[in-house]
Amino acid sequence: MKKLLSIVLVLMLVFSFTACGTKSSDTKDVADTTVTTAPAATTAPAATTAPTVKVDKKIVVGVVQTNANESDWRTANTKSFNEAFASAGFELKMVFGEGDHAKQISEAQQLIQEEVDYLVVLGLQSAGWEDVAKAAKEAGIPFIMADRKLDLSTDLYTAMVCSDFAAEGNKAVDWLKAQALTAYNIVVLGGDTGSSAQLGRSKAIEDGAKANSWNIVFNQNMKGWDETLAKQAVADLIAAGTEFNVVYAENDNMARGACDAMDAAGITYGKDGTVKVIAFDANKWALQNVLAGKFNLDVECNPLHGPRIVELINKLQAGEKVDQDAYVKEEMFDCATITQAIVDARTY
Ligand code: AHR
Repeated sequence: MKKLLSIVLVLMLVFSFTACGTKSSDTKDVADTTVTTAPAATTAPAATTAPTVKVDKKIVVGVVQTNANESDWRTANTKSFNEAFASAGFELKMVFGEGDHAKQISEAQQLIQEEVDYLVVLGLQSAGWEDVAKAAKEAGIPFIMADRKLDLSTDLYTAMVCSDFAAEGNKAVDWLKAQALTAYNIVVLGGDTGSSAQLGRSKAIEDGAKANSWNIVFNQNMKGWDETLAKQAVADLIAAGTEFNVVYAENDNMARGACDAMDAAGITYGKDGTVKVIAFDANKWALQNVLAGKFNLDVECNPLHGPRIVELINKLQAGEKVDQDAYVKEEMFDCATITQAIVDARTY
């Protein structure tokens, strides 16, 4: 009797397994047979194919952001993603590294576990992303870089839409050279160490100083691109009696911090002042400072990546050709030529 029972049980088990098998293969079949859009001839290496995003399923995009409130630029950047993805009908899963590279890495890995359809990374650091990119590739998830280019070989990412930070820095260096100052004693307020934004802008001024025998009297990176830290650093330099006539601040917020410190010490700066102030980002309020002659130069770094990434993902979804490396077209604003109309036209 028992023997008969155990045979029945075994048979039942066999039947249940085959039933399950059938179901998952069914799903897979369904997945496989629904509309899949593989990129036709992308310039992107065949690192990944477009995910099998069913037409009736929302596209889920994981965005690995740096910090929530790193700077006014970052706030505009995050807003751009939120707004553009909402109007595109994408589901946005945005995570923040909060200044911690390892945290960004683990959050990116988590998004891969959650099987997002696309992974967009804005790296706190440009180095150390190979494992994440490999994991995304294995999972068939296109890896996209936005804002900051990471140190990845072309087979490990699908596309990038970034700023050319070296070009931004070189614009400032060329402008500074054209000022033909009698002396160059430069204070460099750098951004987060190891971010491609900081690396590109810092290398430009360091190379420019070497090439033109300029004097860099101070060169330090401010954690989190922090305005208050920048203000304190300049106040300390003034208190120490350090001579300087150029402030090269790697974003608008730090430039404003430096100006506050000079205001407190009665040091003049800007168009009619003794210290030239160079900033990066070109937020609207900062361009108002350029117009007012407080900042001499502001080099644009455009944060409005939301629509660009939506366009890129829609192209990949449609199997269209995409350029693997795309740099954002950016300008610079000089206090000698800026107008109110230019300031009014600024959207961030
Ligand atoms: O990556 C762009 C930089 O990050 C901006 O220049 C800075 O303001 C931001 O925090």
